Formats: sequence, C-alpha cells, structure tokens
Amino acid sequence: MTQQARDPDSWTPWRARITETAMLTETERFFRLEPIDGQALGQVPGQFVQVCLPGIGEAPISVASAPNEEGTFDLVVRKVGNLTEALHRTVEGQSVGIRGPFGRGFPVDSCRGRDLVIIAGGIGLVPLRSLIQHGLMHRNRFKSFSVLYGAKRPAEMLFKEELIAWQGRPDTDFHITVDVAPSGYLGHVGLITTLIPYLEGSPADTSAIVVGPPVMFRFVLRELLAHGVPEDHIWASLERHMKCGIGQCGHCQINGALTCREGPVFSAQELSRLPEAI
Ligand SMILES: Cc1cc2nc3c(=O)[nH]c(=O)nc-3n(C[C@H](O)[C@H](O)[C@H](O)COP(=O)(O)OP(=O)(O)OC[C@H]3O[C@@H](n4cnc5c(N)ncnc54)[C@H](O)[C@@H]3O)c2cc1C
Ligand code: FES
Repeated sequence: MTQQARDPDSWTPWRARITETAMLTETERFFRLEPIDGQALGQVPGQFVQVCLPGIGEAPISVASAPNEEGTFDLVVRKVGNLTEALHRTVEGQSVGIRGPFGRGFPVDSCRGRDLVIIAGGIGLVPLRSLIQHGLMHRNRFKSFSVLYGAKRPAEMLFKEELIAWQGRPDTDFHITVDVAPSGYLGHVGLITTLIPYLEGSPADTSAIVVGPPVMFRFVLRELLAHGVPEDHIWASLERHMKCGIGQCGHCQINGALTCREGPVFSAQELSRLPEAI
C-alpha cells in the first residue's frame, strides 16, 4: 500500500473492496475494506469517510480502525435507513465508493504524556476503537490508559472478543458497564458516570475523550469536571446530518461551525460556545 495523502476536498469516490464482514449485534454490521487503488486510507483516529452506493446515496461513517500495514480499514454500520440497509445487503468481494477520510480527528498529540481516559457509550465505541488501537500501539506515549465502555444491555455490546483481550492487558484499566442486565449477569450494572470517581491517574493531568449519545455526554462532562479534569482536556465527537463532508454545502452547521470540517471532534470549551451542539 502507498501512503500518499488522499485529496481532502474530493467529490469523487474511489473504490474499496469488502474483504470481511460480520454481524456484531442484530443491527450493527462490521466491514473490513481494502482500497482497490493500493493507496492507504491515511486516517487519523476520529475521522470519518463518506460511503457511497451508486443509485442509492452516501452516508458519513466513522473509521473504526487505526492505520495498519495491510492498508485495510474497518467500518461498523447500524441499519437505520436506505443506505445503511443497502450496505447490510452487500456481500464480501463487492466494492463500494469511498470519499475521505474527512474531519478533525481526536487530538492524539495533545494527549501525549498525560493520563488518557476514553469513554464510549453504545455505538460511540466505533470511532473510539481506532483511538484504542492507536493508543495500544503507542502505549508508552501515555501515562495511565483507561477505557470506560457502557452499553444498554449485554447483547448490544460491540467487539466482544476484543473487549476481553483489552480487559486482559496489564497496562490498561478497562471497565465495562451495562444499564440493564438479565439475572445472572456477572459484570458491572449501572450508568457509565458511576465509574468516573474510580479512574486511575491524576485528574489535572487527565485528557478525556468521550463519544456517545448527547445525553450521556452532558452527564459525563459534568462528572469529569467535578472529578477535576480540565475543560480544555475533554473532547467529544458529534454526529450531525451531513451531505458533502467537505465544508461546501452547509448542511452540518451548528451555530455557524461546520461539523464536517471543524469537527466532528470538538473540545468541551469549543462546545460551550456552540449551544445547539449538545
Ligand atoms: C461524523 C459521522 C460519523 C458517523 N459514523 C457512523 C458509524 O460509524 N456507523 C453508523 O452506523 N452510523 C454512523 N453515522 C450515522 C450515519 O451517517 C447515518 O445513520 C446514515 O447517514 C443514515 O443513512 P441512511 O440512508 O441509512 O438513513 P436515512 O434513510 O437517511 O435515515 C434514517 C434515519 O436516520 C436518521 N439519520 C440520518 N442521518 C443521520 C445522522 N447523520 N445522524 C443522526 N441521524 C441520522 C434520519 O433522520 C432517519 O431518522 C455517522 C454520522 C456522522 C455525521
Ligand atoms: S456536510 Fe456539507 S458543509 Fe458539512
């Protein structure tokens, strides 16, 4: 795979072949893709691509993997409407159109040398998996490395085998919680905010990256601030309706900010100036 950067302003999709798929839950399907032109995607964790199916349309989907030597990249698609249902009907070997990677990703350099806390709610684990993979590849760049993952119920957890492997690592602090569980469930049950007081590391030296539903972000932000994490070291990724993905159509504006270009990752300080965001 060549590492030449892809055009960040492109309207023209390139092709990627689906090499592997798996149903992670009843509604979320995993895809591994390989660029047909042999040029790596070149993503930063937290960026997204526009996935295009001719005659159907396109949708922004987060990249779920860190760059790797094979040049493949992963996506997870929740079936909600036209395009995502059509993606669930594709088969291995078929190709799809891709534009991107787009957007401002997670601030990996600002987190260097600090205690890193990654907080994922539901499908928020998808973009954060790219950050977790990146962090584990470069584990010595961070002091403590903590991940808190909350799902509604055990059946909705994504990447179950990877969760077990991550939890088994001695150099990470990994916690999973569910809102509700069937009787006999042995894991932690409760809201993700209940785990914040037990975080490793020093709050003042902590950088926190949060992706989940807006209601979760509001409560997590309040807890992180109460715990002593600085506001300018808390980041979130926003999901907004997008069309072009390249700052041209204005579809994704929040208080004048273009989410596709200036985001989707924003700091809590930036979000406090975007009241329509959360
Ligand atoms: C930066 C970004 C990253 C995303 N990453 C992922 C991802 O990794 N996996 C994934 O499954 N989805 C992701 N999404 C959401 C995904 O883009 C939408 O679910 C998709 O566009 C729906 O297209 P559709 O044609 O299937 O549905 P439509 O037929 O267009 O709509 C079906 C329903 O979904 C709602 N919807 C459509 N687009 C969005 C949107 N952007 N945000 C919220 N609701 C929407 C519609 O209002 C409608 O209720 C992301 C969105 C953004 C902006
Ligand atoms: S999606 Fe078109 S400007 Fe952001």
